[in-house]
Amino acid sequence: MNRDLRKTIIAGNWKMNMLASEVKAYKDELMPLITEFKAWCDTVVCTPFVLLPEAVCAFKGTGVGVGAQNLSQFESGAYTGEVSAAQLTDIGTQYVIIGHSERRQYYGETDETVNAKTLAALKTPLISIVCVGETLEQREEGITNELVTKQVKVALSNVPGDRELDKVVIAYEPVWAIGTGKTATPEDAQEVCKVIRNVLSSLYCEKAAEAISILYGGSMNDKNAKDLLAQPDIDGGLIGGASLKPDAFAVIVNAANQ
Ligand code: 13P
Repeated sequence: MNRDLRKTIIAGNWKMNMLASEVKAYKDELMPLITEFKAWCDTVVCTPFVLLPEAVCAFKGTGVGVGAQNLSQFESGAYTGEVSAAQLTDIGTQYVIIGHSERRQYYGETDETVNAKTLAALKTPLISIVCVGETLEQREEGITNELVTKQVKVALSNVPGDRELDKVVIAYEPVWAIGTGKTATPEDAQEVCKVIRNVLSSLYCEKAAEAISILYGGSMNDKNAKDLLAQPDIDGGLIGGASLKPDAFAVIVNAANQ
């Protein structure tokens, strides 16, 4: 983390879990466990679409923001089953996860669709959490840095280096670490996050790259968060399983607000 240069962000990704009837109880359990919200740290829960109105209502005025897990690359029209950026912002959604590896793996999302979705989100006040990361095979092949470089470059094609960049966050999520209990070591995660920052610097400039938050995701939990967050280029976490447990999530949020 480098609090002087950029925001720290702790984002829970609930994936396809929880019911609307459980959101308020989650909030009631979480909030007393969070000791402090520092100005340089944002806390967010990213819920399934149908839970967003409930979550926006439950977390209103608490200091915890609400995000979606996907959006359409199209503005409006005949796209059955899709949800637009404007529809998300209209109900108070502040963040959106784009190109999560589960969307790439199960729903055919590509670097190009991730780019189209990022451009769509940037037309609104939404903050985009753009996900990149390698599979185990790709890591073993030794192509992690190359792959992540390409993912970031394509995802940000035609994203101007002006104030739009304030609404871009990158999440490095090694696919082999997601939901497996296998966390990247802080050093390995740092190495790739540094590669990502160098890519951002080559795309824009060093100052712009230093201002962009880069999160780590993949089995981050209450035990390992502190060490991961201590790395200079890891500016927060995208947390799946542990974000479903208010006590574990609160430990991570508190570690980030130290
Ligand atoms: P886990 O924390 O469950 O490994 O999930 C990480 C993730 O995919 C967050 O988007």
